[in-house]
Amino acid sequence: MRVIIEKDYQTMSRKAALLVASQVNLKPDSVLGLATGSTPEGMYQELVQMYHRGEIDFSEVITFNLDEYYKLTPDNKESYHYYMQQNLFKHVNLYSENTNIPRGMVENMETECKYYEEKIQRAGGIDLQVLGIGSNGHIGFNEPGDRLNVTTKLVKLTEETIKSNSRFFDSPEEVPRKAVSVGMATILKAERIILLASGRNKAEAIKKTVNGYVDTRVPSSLLQTHPEVTLIIDEEAANLL
Ligand code: GLP
Repeated sequence: MRVIIEKDYQTMSRKAALLVASQVNLKPDSVLGLATGSTPEGMYQELVQMYHRGEIDFSEVITFNLDEYYKLTPDNKESYHYYMQQNLFKHVNLYSENTNIPRGMVENMETECKYYEEKIQRAGGIDLQVLGIGSNGHIGFNEPGDRLNVTTKLVKLTEETIKSNSRFFDSPEEVPRKAVSVGMATILKAERIILLASGRNKAEAIKKTVNGYVDTRVPSSLLQTHPEVTLIIDEEAANLL
């Protein structure tokens, strides 16, 4: 596991964008795994600016997002469909048929999960997976527990995650209690992984990710088993290393 410590959020975001751009420039038809949350917003802004400067071309890129809230429609402002449109998709030349996000609104979730998983494999798997991290060590929406999901599944969110993500909603009651998330093996099968973290409230999770045991109660610790993981974190998130 490689750890890159940047001074602050902005330099962390810039570094992450440069790594994504070098992946795409090296392989224009790259399959990118994308994350949501507040952490990668700066990276997406950098990528949009790079696109406008002609430094990255998304025309052949395929993307797969990690997760979506259960039962939120794509036009719901808190959905990850909406987030991706606003933060990246509508600003660059990514074609809608090349962007994929699990759908939270379908009747048969089991079929949706299976379909999503197969689609990733049909695309040849993820070349570069971008991750954020929850303060409890969740990645995607793979929450801490005695066991973790291998593939894409409908999952229950923990109280800690509901509380933490309630800042995006009008009230904690409005936060969906479930989400659809790719599984741990889906993430760990990616060729390369970068994980972004910023701020003091991520320091404990980062410490456990880097120096702790591999433990299902800290899902991000499983990244230690992957040969090509780079953490790009700011000084505050690195505070306990
Ligand atoms: C959500 C997402 C995760 C993300 C996490 C951290 O729960 N499902 O993919 O990493 O939030 O969010 P933030 O970056 O806002 O701290």
